[in-house]
Amino acid sequence: MQQTLQGKVVVITGASSGIGAAAALALARRGASLVLAARRLDRLAAVAAQVERLGGRAVVQSCDVSRREDIRRLLTMAQDNFASLDVVIANAGFGFSAAVHETTEPQMDEIWRVNVLGTWYVMAEAAAMMIPRRAGHIIVISSAAARRGLPRMGAYSMTKAAQLSLAEAQRIELTGTGVQVSSVHPISTRTNFFAEASRRSGTRVGGIGKMQTAELVGEKIAHLVERPRPELWPFSPARWSLGLATMLPGVTDYFMRRLAPPHAGREK
Ligand SMILES: NC(=O)c1ccc[n+]([C@@H]2O[C@H](COP(=O)([O-])OP(=O)(O)OC[C@H]3O[C@@H](n4cnc5c(N)ncnc54)[C@H](OP(=O)(O)O)[C@@H]3O)[C@@H](O)[C@H]2O)c1
Repeated sequence: MQQTLQGKVVVITGASSGIGAAAALALARRGASLVLAARRLDRLAAVAAQVERLGGRAVVQSCDVSRREDIRRLLTMAQDNFASLDVVIANAGFGFSAAVHETTEPQMDEIWRVNVLGTWYVMAEAAAMMIPRRAGHIIVISSAAARRGLPRMGAYSMTKAAQLSLAEAQRIELTGTGVQVSSVHPISTRTNFFAEASRRSGTRVGGIGKMQTAELVGEKIAHLVERPRPELWPFSPARWSLGLATMLPGVTDYFMRRLAPPHAGREK
């Protein structure tokens, strides 16, 4: 594989598992240097070892994205270690299943702090470091759920829509600065996401419709780093069907009820 990203420094949050880990390996194969962040250092070290087996370079940093000082420390560490900060990928996140009226305040508070504030801290701190250098790429891992709220995952869908709004706004705000902003919208992807969502919900949580692999999504993220564009939809039919869905909400409700009946996934 061509070393198209040789010399690029990429920071990834949520790199200890799933899409973040797969993106790290896809980027390492293209020659990028990686700064891998998450809370579980042992998992990060395992991903870093895989990067090194591919001939790449990776450093790891423990980081809770819901703490702004952790993000600041992470990005400063990337600059100090590699004297550059080319790409940041705000990927860390989680989901859970609960009806909107049954979601508790602690659940709502935590998902907001991790998925939304955690993404915003990365976008804000990275932009402040990239603008003076007049170069950089901020990538937000949102979801197909950003364009259509999922039943029993209303709070999660809300956070993914919020991430998309932040990315759309920042992309225009940074016009002319040399800093690009992209959002990524995976459909259901085979990772630890659903096991973690099931654990948090006390009920089995599964994906809706087609499932992709983390490796495929990771490869597509690496292409996005090579050729920045506003949005990446790893399963492109989802982009067009959800575009249509926003124009035909009643018809979409009909199909959503068939795909995910209101009481589906509640059995313990
Ligand atoms: N899988 C899907 O179907 C799917 C579809 C669309 C979008 N997405 C999005 O893709 C992103 C990655 O999810 P995934 O599918 O790869 O799930 P995953 O395998 O469960 O990975 C989640 C990652 O986020 C990290 N994380 C969670 N809370 C964190 C916190 N407070 N601070 C720092 N890191 C934290 C986890 O690391 P630690 O536990 O070590 O901190 C882990 O590395 C998420 O934003 C998710 O919403 C997933």
